[in-house]
Amino acid sequence: MGSVLLTRRVPSSVLAPLEAQHDVDVYRGDGAIPRDELLRRVEGKDALICVLTDRIDDEVMTAGSRLKIVANIAVGYDNIDVPMVRRHGAVATNTPDVLTEATAELTWALILAIARRVGEGERLVRAGGWKGWTLDFMLGTELRGKQLGIVGAGRIGRAVAAKAAAFGMTPVFARRQGSAPRGPDDRTLDEVLVTSDVISLHVPGSAATRHLIDRKAFARMKRSVLLVNTARGSVIDEEALIWALGERLIAGAALDVYPKEPDVNPALFAFENVVLVPHLGSATRETRLAMVDLAVRNVLAVLSGAAPLTPIS
Ligand code: GLV
Repeated sequence: MGSVLLTRRVPSSVLAPLEAQHDVDVYRGDGAIPRDELLRRVEGKDALICVLTDRIDDEVMTAGSRLKIVANIAVGYDNIDVPMVRRHGAVATNTPDVLTEATAELTWALILAIARRVGEGERLVRAGGWKGWTLDFMLGTELRGKQLGIVGAGRIGRAVAAKAAAFGMTPVFARRQGSAPRGPDDRTLDEVLVTSDVISLHVPGSAATRHLIDRKAFARMKRSVLLVNTARGSVIDEEALIWALGERLIAGAALDVYPKEPDVNPALFAFENVVLVPHLGSATRETRLAMVDLAVRNVLAVLSGAAPLTPIS
């Protein structure tokens, strides 16, 4: 029998198989586990199941010197120093695939919301400000016939692109800098920035993608472009975004992720042409259950001496 620390409450149905075989210590507080509590409770544990708000670094791995696995309940793992986890002799896992469709669906919700001014319209109705139907009232942008530029051609980017035909959009993909073209819909990042009507970001958060969308990138975009980010807040230079919105260099943005969550830069609130949602990419009941289940199965595998199902390579 091993011992497992879980940094968030999860549905008991998914936890049952873990509890049947191991001692499970669940942090039951609201919100993120405080850092000192994480460091204290990880001591002596064989496995850690954590979420993207938990920073897993040398300090945690040193406190949890018995850890064999760090199982992140997220596909992104910018919260984990993966080489450090390996240096401590443990494996890190994430939850790919199970959240692809949910995140792609949320991306489309944002594309439609920003193109058709859904957030702005909702705010107006709730504030009692709607004066009635007119021919030229709150006109948006039609998606049909437009180009969807996908930055990050991984599982989620491709799932977003797969739904583009339903809206009559043509998807193109930005290839990684220096890599060879892989197909007719493959473009350089600059080509995607310059020619797309909607740009959707799907790269992982990392040092390499930090501020990929900066002032220079905004200056290359069409003034009519709509920018959607369901990846990581760090991918957009937020100051540059606020500048681009203020200068009307872009027509709008829809954001699910932010550089310092849960803080959202209040400068963004001034723009009606910005849709802001609170990191909901994978937030469906079905997907969250599947994510926890996959993290649990990774822990069960590793604690039984088998290989993890979804190791971070
Ligand atoms: C959510 O942002 C995730 O990475 O799973």
